[in-house]
Amino acid sequence: MVDTTRKKCLGEPTEPTNIVIFGAGGDLTKRKLIPSLIKMLRCGLLHADSKIIGVLKGRTRETWLQAMYKGIKDYAPDIEIDDQQWQTFSAMFKMVDGDLENDQTYTDLAESLESLAGHTHAMFYCAVPPRWYTTIAAGLHRIGLADEHEGFRRVVIEKPFGMNLESAQALNTELQSLLDESQIYRIDHYLGKESVQNLLVYRFANSILEPLWNRNFIDHIQISAAESIGIEYRANYYEKSGALRDMIQSHLMQVMTLVAMEPPVEFTADAVRDEKIKVLRAVRRIEPENIKQQTVAAQYGSGQINDEPVKAYVAEEGVSPESVTETFAGVRFQIDNWRWQGVPFVLWTGKRLPKRVSEIMIRFKNPPFNLFDAHANPPMANSLVFRVHPDEGIALRMNAKKPGLTTDSQRMVMRAPYSENSEDVSEAYEVLLHDVLTGDATLFSRADEVEESWAIIEPILNAWKDRISVDRYRAGSWDVPGMDALFEDCVSGWHKPS
Ligand code: BG6
Repeated sequence: MVDTTRKKCLGEPTEPTNIVIFGAGGDLTKRKLIPSLIKMLRCGLLHADSKIIGVLKGRTRETWLQAMYKGIKDYAPDIEIDDQQWQTFSAMFKMVDGDLENDQTYTDLAESLESLAGHTHAMFYCAVPPRWYTTIAAGLHRIGLADEHEGFRRVVIEKPFGMNLESAQALNTELQSLLDESQIYRIDHYLGKESVQNLLVYRFANSILEPLWNRNFIDHIQISAAESIGIEYRANYYEKSGALRDMIQSHLMQVMTLVAMEPPVEFTADAVRDEKIKVLRAVRRIEPENIKQQTVAAQYGSGQINDEPVKAYVAEEGVSPESVTETFAGVRFQIDNWRWQGVPFVLWTGKRLPKRVSEIMIRFKNPPFNLFDAHANPPMANSLVFRVHPDEGIALRMNAKKPGLTTDSQRMVMRAPYSENSEDVSEAYEVLLHDVLTGDATLFSRADEVEESWAIIEPILNAWKDRISVDRYRAGSWDVPGMDALFEDCVSGWHKPS
């Protein structure tokens, strides 16, 4: 057995399961899935009798395992594992060599699973480009691997789930003809982030927030994900996707539903998702004539980050020099319901910004009457910030008196780190893999949510699709054209994370 140096995690233990990874030679597997499975095993959340079956083409089991081991060293250095521990851990691995479109691959997989006597549960993880999702589901269906007569059979689908409303609907229809909706786990790793889940607990386990959580006290809400990295090696995907599809349609809109939803009647997958879908249905569709005022699209030019020169998006490998793909996107949504009428929700994200910060900022209204107006520093509007990363936690910005013979105010920030001990904070993929293994779909997107979110951004995609130019911002700067205008009538304007 692998050592169990990491302390026991909270969480329901899982049953022995065959974890099948399609695309087992890929990046997601080595960067996220294998490290998360090791961590889960070490803290007792993954049953030690589970098996990991990689489906991939053109490698021996040995070279595949070497690549996985190197992946842990490169991308998850916090996992202390030596050669000998790795040897023991890798006894859990099996490999099926085959093409995804070849029937024989699924026959071999079925045989491989059959040889694991006593193992009835199976999770199939599609860590592959989206064009393979239905091929895999059809292959599993044909050979009977999706049938749940003995144990569970769950299929995990990565993002992007479709490229627009039509393709998402087609994908849902095809998958639902092969699998039951309850077997489909559409993963959105943002929902696995602990601080995003903490938002739910914070909202619904405290009574002081609810009276403030509405249009009477809140001026606007910003949900953001700033990144300093560029597109790395993903030009092929990113050129077709852009920031709007990559981050806003999925991660940030999902977070918005958690911020805006009504309290669910119980904490179960469907009760939570029923409330989330109501939010999406209430999001006002942006009319073509308003797209310009309510959205921002921009692309990074060359610049400097951490004193290092970085190249422009159009100079990245695999990107067309004429590309007008947006690497920054901002959208101002309105939610038409009693709670949120008139409160802008501004979602924004960008690559090659000065730092990597993701947060949810609730900006409250200004005090109705300013007693201290005559003084040099009038009080600023309060805000409550949920920091998703780095430094997960909550910060409440208030005004307080400056010490001394003055009634001038100064800003006071009350910070509550999410956890004092970073070891206690689980990685998003650990949380989500555990949820799949225990059958908890609360943090996974239901078919209707995915379609509704595509329907919301469809007018923007349509307006942007024929553009012939795009605004530029300097890499490593916050000088994104149009962002200040998006917040023109909002208290304190655009909040650039510090
Ligand atoms: C992915 C996007 O879904 O999320 C990437 O495709 C992005 O472009 C990443 O970099 C951000 O995730 P995180 O967890 O680093 O905020």
